[in-house]
Amino acid sequence: HGAMRLAIRARARAGNPDAEVLRDPVVREDPHAHYERLRTPAPFAGGAFARVSVHHDVCTDVLRSDDFGQIGGNRTEGLPPVLRLALRLAGPRPSVGPIDPPSMLAVDPPDHTRYRRLVSRAFTARAVARLRERTGEIAHDLLDDLEREAAATGGQVDLVARYASLLPVTVISEVLGVPVAMREQFLAWADGATPSLDMGLSWRTHREVERNLGELDAWFRGHLRRLRREPGDDLLSGLVTAADDDGAALTEQELMATAALVFGAGFETTVNLVGNGAALLFAHPAQRRLLAEDPSLWPNAVDEVLRLESPVQRTGRRARRATEVHGVPIAEGDLVLLVLAAANRDPRVFDDPHAFDVTRRNARDHVAFSSGIHFCLGAALARMEGEVALRALFERFPDLAAAGTGRRRSTVILRGWESLPVALTPAL
Ligand code: HEM
Repeated sequence: HGAMRLAIRARARAGNPDAEVLRDPVVREDPHAHYERLRTPAPFAGGAFARVSVHHDVCTDVLRSDDFGQIGGNRTEGLPPVLRLALRLAGPRPSVGPIDPPSMLAVDPPDHTRYRRLVSRAFTARAVARLRERTGEIAHDLLDDLEREAAATGGQVDLVARYASLLPVTVISEVLGVPVAMREQFLAWADGATPSLDMGLSWRTHREVERNLGELDAWFRGHLRRLRREPGDDLLSGLVTAADDDGAALTEQELMATAALVFGAGFETTVNLVGNGAALLFAHPAQRRLLAEDPSLWPNAVDEVLRLESPVQRTGRRARRATEVHGVPIAEGDLVLLVLAAANRDPRVFDDPHAFDVTRRNARDHVAFSSGIHFCLGAALARMEGEVALRALFERFPDLAAAGTGRRRSTVILRGWESLPVALTPAL
């Protein structure tokens, strides 16, 4: 074990851009300094573990190429081999994770096409436009609660716990037709499970992830069984009874994976958009003034937040066959890491890339929602929620200010805030 830790540290020192480097608390606070060290003219930064790209064009090309597919790995990848063996001996995993096969996020066509088609209609721009008003109501109800809580506690509240996390989980629960009353429990399960996005988990974290996923899985299975008996007119009931073009219904595993992914992706990322947006606006009062003067800038501001502080920092692909990317030969099976957050600060695409500018003309050219066939299914919903949530917050409380230092999430791939203490009115 000690030897492994030494080896990891040696690789970190050599600038190997894998998860262990990003786990360093200093790097985690400001991963961009680390990403910038990888920004050489070469398409990929090396690395024994995988090739890594921080370039906008390389990331986009790989994501759009059918020479590459999803990694489709499982949560034990990256664990020390002896622990993986122990897990295998312990028997099959009981739960279906939202990002494990057969989740659409983890598979290639033709399965991907089939799963995605089943749910995509619910998330088109038109479907989302119909949700805007309801999202505004949810935002204002939560802000009423926030105001009451602030009055009771002397002015301070945690923006993440009381607003940024509750809004998206409430919206996606209503869309899918799962009980909104369980939202705090859903958040707790998801919080416990999200470290599984990162590789190289400790044994303890891994057990914790499995416990949370297991409980979420059990609840979801029960819920889907109830819907099979008594379908409603919600999205999940539709899925339960849906058949693909060949008339073959989803298997239980496929149904579970699809439901869990859409549900989990529906709030675990958007919370970070709202939190990152609030934190950026606290730090940039001039940008905040621009938005107050011209609210039509809000949609662009949301894209600028996604660009500058991307909630999903990176993704990866595996070569399905031998190929070449920007002159670099890639062997079949090779792993490629795409640092979306760094591509979003590519100076060849974005002027003054590290600046926060809500009037930036091409803010929307970011790849925070990925690109190609796995382009975020919920992008329109996320943009709408981010805009409604941030605008309602800053318009309702023009004096809103950070109160003390927040705490960042400990995850590597997801970037956001675990807590952001705020004061609704300035301290007297
Ligand atoms: C896929 C980001 C919100 C559902 C993705 C991917 C990214 C992403 C980067 C693709 C990953 C890859 O290419 O490997 C985000 C961000 C969000 C957000 C930054 C919020 C700010 C949402 C919401 C939903 C959602 C609200 C709810 C429906 C999905 C689904 C996929 C996906 C189902 C898989 C699509 C596929 O594999 O075809 N998202 N997402 N996301 N997202 Fe989002």
